[in-house]
Amino acid sequence: MSVYFLTGCAGFIASNVAEMLLEAGHSVYGIDDRNNAYSVLLKDWRLKQLSRFENFHFQEVDITDRIALENFFQEALTRECLAHFDACIHLAARAGVRYSVENPWIYLDTNVTGTLNLLELCRHSGTQKFVAASSSSVYGNSSAEIFHEDQRTDFPCSPYAASKKAAEALIFSYHHLYGIDVSVLRFFTVYGPAGRPDMSILRFIHAIAEEKPITLYGDGTQERDFTYCRDIASGVLASLRPVGYETFNLGGDHTYSVNQLIEIVANILGKKPLIKQYPPHRADVARTHADISNAREKLGWKPCWDFRAGIAETIRWYLENRDWFSAEMKD
Ligand code: UGA
Repeated sequence: MSVYFLTGCAGFIASNVAEMLLEAGHSVYGIDDRNNAYSVLLKDWRLKQLSRFENFHFQEVDITDRIALENFFQEALTRECLAHFDACIHLAARAGVRYSVENPWIYLDTNVTGTLNLLELCRHSGTQKFVAASSSSVYGNSSAEIFHEDQRTDFPCSPYAASKKAAEALIFSYHHLYGIDVSVLRFFTVYGPAGRPDMSILRFIHAIAEEKPITLYGDGTQERDFTYCRDIASGVLASLRPVGYETFNLGGDHTYSVNQLIEIVANILGKKPLIKQYPPHRADVARTHADISNAREKLGWKPCWDFRAGIAETIRWYLENRDWFSAEMKD
């Protein structure tokens, strides 16, 4: 069994990853700063699900706080009588595309300086495997039919996307200098139960269920390659193997427009959506579509969840947790 250091474990993706690792019998040392970018109650709900596992060790730590980070990292190694972790899985991030236009500093601090702090700890401890969360947003407004990892990523549309691109470059330099084995994972619009309440899917479910108007940016023809959280978690686990330095798109392998998404949600809930249209957001990209052949070939990974089934699961979770969760949703 392996011992992993996991950042952002109260977050949506990392909590799914933690659960899968713990179910497989591994030990996880998880950190999170429990910031208020969105509902802290939701973050605590996710942590509570993980607390049932004996091998889950959590501490509230901000990755930009070098001293606190180093202390917990070293304490964990001492406790396990290890010199290094089997891998550092770095999924902590400031993640909202549109909010990054309002407060870009926090994105650069967390996503770039925070990543640097972890890379330094890995190199000093001899932790040889680094898995990092990147984003489909690094492709910007690409005109490519399907996004391949080798295409240019020099035109990000938001400070968030730019911070992820910067982090990727920094991580490569640590691979080059210190031989750290790296899997960079570009996630494509991840959704599912206990997902981020600032993202489209839970916002739309909430609005339709509560019979409130949906905030729609643009005309709804923008498309996303939505990816279910359990598929993403299995991709993260698959990426723990040695690869040298590789970037992998993890996408659902199908694109849906925002209008199609609204229709599916409304259909499952059996309600008619009310829509309030706003101009397109300047930080938004028109379309994302992942070429997942690299992950298929090198990791043996493929997404298994059908979009409608994933949405139905997310709605089921919403309805089960509606009492406390709907109070956490911002209009
Ligand atoms: C999402 C995540 O927020 C990022 O963290 C992630 O890096 C990114 O996916 C990615 O795949 O790279 P985004 O595509 O903006 O970013 O995801 P959603 O919030 O689900 O938005 C999808 C579309 O729905 C966007 O065009 C957005 O403008 C639209 N939308 C969203 C609305 O029209 N109304 C809303 O209330 C929310």
